Amino acid sequence: MHMVRVICRVAFGKSYKGREFDNGRFEEAVNEAFAMLGGFSGTHFFPYVGWILDKFTGLHGRLEKCFQQFDDFYQNVIDEHLNYERTKSEQEDIIDVLLKVGRDHTGPGGPLTNDYIKAILLDIFLGGVDTTTVTVVWAMTELVKNPEVMKKVQDEVRCSVGKKGKVVEAVLDQLKFLKMVVKETPRLHPPAPLLHPRETMHHFTINGYEIYPKTRVQVNVYAIGRDPKYWKNPEEFMPDRFMDNSNDYKGTHFEYLPFGAGRRICPAIYMGISMVALTLANLLYALSGAFLMR
Ligand code: HEM
Repeated sequence: MHMVRVICRVAFGKSYKGREFDNGRFEEAVNEAFAMLGGFSGTHFFPYVGWILDKFTGLHGRLEKCFQQFDDFYQNVIDEHLNYERTKSEQEDIIDVLLKVGRDHTGPGGPLTNDYIKAILLDIFLGGVDTTTVTVVWAMTELVKNPEVMKKVQDEVRCSVGKKGKVVEAVLDQLKFLKMVVKETPRLHPPAPLLHPRETMHHFTINGYEIYPKTRVQVNVYAIGRDPKYWKNPEEFMPDRFMDNSNDYKGTHFEYLPFGAGRRICPAIYMGISMVALTLANLLYALSGAFLMR
C-alpha cells in the first residue's frame, strides 16, 4: 500500500488512506484490477472472439464493474481539481497539467477529453504500483536467500545513515551497492516479463524463419536476462556483476531490458528506481535496527 500512496500523490495529488478513504471502494477496485491483470483473459489471446469466453467465465462482468469503479473515482478527482483554486505556493499535479493541456490544445486526434485523461491516469497508476512493489518483494526475497549479500548491503545502509532514524532520498547517491542490488533484481525477476506486444513493419528472416509484416512480437525479457550467452552464472543473484558493467536502464543494451526499449519504454524509469531504492533502503535499515536491539 506504500507504493499506492506514492503513486496516488503523484498522479492525483492526494494521499490514499486505505479503508478510511472512499469507504475502501477504491482499495477494492485496485485489488480487483491487479487480480484480473494477473489472470487469464480470452480477449487478450483472441481479440475478436475472446469476449464470448470472458462472458462465460464472468470476467467480462468483473472487468465492467472494476472499470466503472475506477471511472467514478477518476471523475471525482477531476471534479475536485476543477473546483479547487490553488494558492501560488501550491504545486500543480499531473491532473492540473492534463486539464490545462485539455483546455489549451486541440491535437490532430481531437481535444484531450476527460476520457483521455482518465486513461492516462489509469496507465500511470497500474504501471507504477505493481512493478515497484514486485521489485521490492523480489529484492528482499533474494537478499534473504543470499545472507552475504544481505549483510553487505545492510552494512552499507547502516554506515551511511547512522542513527538518523530513516533513509532520505539525498543519501541514496552514496549507496553504491544498494544500487547494484536494485539493478540485479529485475534482471532475474522483471515485473513485466513480456514487454508490450509489438508489430513488425517489414518482412525479414530470423534463424531461418520468414517473418511477415504485421506479425505480433512478444519480447521475452525474462529469458534475455538469464541468457548464459550474455550473463555469467545467470541464475545466481550477484549484484557485484554490475560493478564494472556499463549496462543501464535506458533500453540501449539489449541484454538488459527491465524497463523495455524504444518508443514504448517505461516513461518513469528514474521514478521507479528511486521508489524501489528508497523503500528497500528503509526496510533494510529498519530490519538492521530490529536485529541490533535483540
Ligand atoms: C521497478 C519499476 C518499474 C519497472 C520495472 C517498469 C517496467 C515497465 C515496462 C517493461 C514497460 C513496458 C515497456 C516496453 O514495452 O518497452 C513499462 C511501461 C510503462 N510504465 Fe513502467 N515500470 C516501472 C515503474 C513505473 C512507474 C513508477 C510508473 C508510473 C509512475 C510507470 C508507468 C509506466 C507507464 C505509464 C507505461 C506505459 C507506457 C506506454 O504506454 O507507452 N512505470 N514499464
